[in-house]
Amino acid sequence: MPAIIDTDPGIDDAIAILYALRHPDLDIAAMTTVAGNIGLSVTTANALKIATLADVHAPVHAGAPAPLGRDPRPELGIHGNDGLGGVTFPDPATRPASEDAVGYLISILNQADPQTIDLFCLAPLTNIAQLITRAPDTAKRIRRIIAMGGAVDEPGNMGRGEFNLAHDPEAAAIVLHAGLDLTLIPLDATRQFRADAAYLHTLRATGKPPAVASADLIDAYFVQTEHQAKGSESRPLHDPCVPLYALHPDLFRIETRHLQVDHDGALIAGPHPIRVAMGVDADALRARLCEGLAC
Ligand code: RIB
Ligand code: CA
Repeated sequence: MPAIIDTDPGIDDAIAILYALRHPDLDIAAMTTVAGNIGLSVTTANALKIATLADVHAPVHAGAPAPLGRDPRPELGIHGNDGLGGVTFPDPATRPASEDAVGYLISILNQADPQTIDLFCLAPLTNIAQLITRAPDTAKRIRRIIAMGGAVDEPGNMGRGEFNLAHDPEAAAIVLHAGLDLTLIPLDATRQFRADAAYLHTLRATGKPPAVASADLIDAYFVQTEHQAKGSESRPLHDPCVPLYALHPDLFRIETRHLQVDHDGALIAGPHPIRVAMGVDADALRARLCEGLAC
């Protein structure tokens, strides 16, 4: 299953990337990076570091340094100044590719047969919106977009909205209103997929570096709260839901809701039929994630 990961690593992005890069049933052609949780230079360096720890060759193409027409609003309080919660990763074994993210996306989608490449979107949608705007016919060659983002019935985590859509509302509107094959995995689903101390022990017991690093990353996530009482007993695993959905869609409950992206990135009732994940089989997903990180 060929796919490209668009990402702003980012603690939960890192877990999703470690899982996706090493999974035998996924062929991650490359990663494209964007400003989001932290600035573009850090998200790009982090993507390279994560690929190095995974011991998988994955070109990294740097993308947008800021949202469309707005200033970046990084989440240092959640992901730390290094974007990885202070967890030690190896120095990058490679440098970023010379072609920027949108130029790369346009060229690979035009070279590949239509409807053969998925986009796994783990970040604000700035790169994807620029692809759609600059090359709308090329964007139609995307097989499907699976994106972590939005809050349908759940409260948001960035004002009324969810971070990936609210950080760049203009980009989110372009992507969600484009009529492409899109499945959104919002906070309604991802907040059901949680890791507690027992699960961290399970990950560490595998002894495999991607699983152990993921436990360390989740530990770092425990430092802050996100709409939870302090001292939360578990943390949500937002971005790993994207590759997990690609491989195990049966573990997600999908509904179609008619939505639109409001000016601040919040999802409100609208004319666009969008597939949204509203429930998960969390126990099964935790087992699949651990298997994938330990393979
Ligand atoms: O709201 C969760 C999303 O925002 C995740 O992608 C996380 O990495 C942050 O970017
Ligand atoms: Ca992210």
